[in-house]
Amino acid sequence: MRLEFVVRQHLLNRLRIRSGRERAQRQNAYRNRHEADRDDYQEEAVHNRHWESEAVVGRCRAAPSVLASAVMRGNTVLRESGPKDAGLKETGLKEAGLKEIAALPETLAGRSIVLVGLMGAGKTSIGRRLAARLGMPFRDADAEIELAAGCTVPELFDRYGEHEFRDGERRVIRRLLAGDPIVLATGGGAFMDPQTRATIREEGISIWLRCKLATLLRRVVGREHRPLLNAGDPAQILQRLIDLRHPFYAEADLIIDCADESPDVTTSHVLNALLGWQAPRRLSVALTSTNYDVVIGDGLLERAGALLAPLLPQKRVVVVTDASVARLHLPLLLDGLSATAIQSSQIVVPAGESSKNLETYARVVDGLLDAGVERGTTIIALGGGVVGDLAGFAAATTLRGLPFVQVPTTLLAQVDSSVGGKTGVNTPRGKNLVGAFHQPRMVLADTATLRTLPIRELRAGYAEIAKAGLIGDAAFFAWCERHGGRMIGGDRDLQAEAIRRACAFKAAVVGDDEREERPNDGRALLNLGHTFAHALEADVGYGGGLLHGEAVAVGLGLAFRLSTRLGLCPQADAERVVAHIAAVGLPAEIGMLNRRLSAATLIAHMRRDKKMRDGQLKFVLARGVGQAFTSSEVAQDAVTDLLRTEGCGP
Ligand SMILES: NC(=O)c1ccc[n+]([C@@H]2O[C@H](COP(=O)([O-])OP(=O)(O)OC[C@H]3O[C@@H](n4cnc5c(N)ncnc54)[C@H](O)[C@@H]3O)[C@@H](O)[C@H]2O)c1
Repeated sequence: MRLEFVVRQHLLNRLRIRSGRERAQRQNAYRNRHEADRDDYQEEAVHNRHWESEAVVGRCRAAPSVLASAVMRGNTVLRESGPKDAGLKETGLKEAGLKEIAALPETLAGRSIVLVGLMGAGKTSIGRRLAARLGMPFRDADAEIELAAGCTVPELFDRYGEHEFRDGERRVIRRLLAGDPIVLATGGGAFMDPQTRATIREEGISIWLRCKLATLLRRVVGREHRPLLNAGDPAQILQRLIDLRHPFYAEADLIIDCADESPDVTTSHVLNALLGWQAPRRLSVALTSTNYDVVIGDGLLERAGALLAPLLPQKRVVVVTDASVARLHLPLLLDGLSATAIQSSQIVVPAGESSKNLETYARVVDGLLDAGVERGTTIIALGGGVVGDLAGFAAATTLRGLPFVQVPTTLLAQVDSSVGGKTGVNTPRGKNLVGAFHQPRMVLADTATLRTLPIRELRAGYAEIAKAGLIGDAAFFAWCERHGGRMIGGDRDLQAEAIRRACAFKAAVVGDDEREERPNDGRALLNLGHTFAHALEADVGYGGGLLHGEAVAVGLGLAFRLSTRLGLCPQADAERVVAHIAAVGLPAEIGMLNRRLSAATLIAHMRRDKKMRDGQLKFVLARGVGQAFTSSEVAQDAVTDLLRTEGCGP
């Protein structure tokens, strides 16, 4: 029998039947509920033993939050069912002016706050206080279920089993979260249900009140309304619940560690965390084949498990990374994954462009097969563009395609290579000549990783940011001119904003032409500066003498100067581009590379580039800043002349 039907029957019965037996049952249910409520307060007292002494109570009561909680005690959860501030009115706080209501940041406005955690974590007592301090109504999911069913949660479990209970709980939580924002305390098992977690993710912000076993034991042992604990040794039972549930609670948006401090202190911690919480920026890449999010924020590695768990077909991943990044960032990522019980193994390749070749690719594929990957095992690329391209290509081809996640750690990878699904390796004949389109399931751009990135690499990544503005967003290029220097200098907000804008630009371009199939413009526009850049890289070699981003920087200047030479672009725009690139410390002209280069050799490299069309060199040119277009009509002589003018030998 479905719980919904059971609940309806109960309510009908309660209206119709007035027999003494029924009444006694009803009263029992209510008594149980209020005992449970009372128990909650007893738990609070254990939670905060020193609180019980008169002196401390007297002292605490002067604090508005305690006054709020005292008033709230007289207020049953069930009576708070009116509009947004009804709970406040009932407590009389508003009229009495006893409390200052904390305002949530804009990103949280309109969202419910959902407390999760084990029994004894304090979800109800903290939830009530939090609601009072935020001026929001409070709801207790278990109390709502009990009210509807007319009996206690343990009775529901006994009568209908856990499956039916969870089914009803899922609906109650969905209904509660569908209305105006509330503070909601959930039952200990609610967050274990994948659909309930998804509802909470959509409608609210989840907070896990994390407690150690000893704390929980002190709070819950001996409470009669915890029948689960009466079935054996409470410590063992709680430990089993911790092992089982913590990996799921770890998917919550915020984690608050609770010890033996008072509920008011814990509430303050929760409130501070909420007020300081910055939701990671999210961008959606919408393609015909798939959709995925680029998540940008500080400290995402340690939250990787929480962010990825909902997407993974199997709680198993293989992380591919390079030796430098492994030393700096792998442990944090592995911890983040294991917090939600995602099993991981690792493949580490040498750092640098020289790893982006067929031999290393073969080694990575062997490593994946040796690790026994299955179709549902996800490959995580942790590193710069080299690891992203290499691991992505291995993911695209192993077992005909494995799920793939990008965790870019260089600025270049965060703003460009991790988005769009191009993967591949170089061959001795040129760059990226073997590869595949393989879109990631998610991109996690943790801006904290940029703090360990050498300044030269940071600058190199900046070239791809400026490129986005130069292609099609003149206002963004002007933003770069204003803020580029400080962004490279380490300003975190500017970095996050630049990453967001560059990724949004790339997502729009890729969404329009996922596989670069348009004859003109489309995704090929993203190659602005790249025909020159790839030729320069091939000539200098991939040993680190010239970074990809540095080659792109020179290429951007050359592309604009070529456009000017062809009479397409005002000279002032070309000089503006070169001036800005040089101002942020990047090479903007061939002369800045301090190398003897041959125009003929560079052209030969260009002719091997996969951007050739019908034997014609393909370039991205510009009519001005933010006005790029593709062209296959550039005469080779014009390119040779430009290269000679820029200082190349014959
Ligand atoms: N797939 C695409 O769409 C696309 C787009 C642009 C570029 N790319 C490719 O990207 C590659 C260049 O990427 P890249 O510039 O990120 O190079 P990279 O991956 O070689 O990283 C540069 C160096 O920085 C180190 N590093 C990475 N993260 C670090 C961190 N957080 N702290 C300290 N050191 C760190 C690496 O170990 C490496 O030595 C090129 O092969 C290029 O072709 C691909």
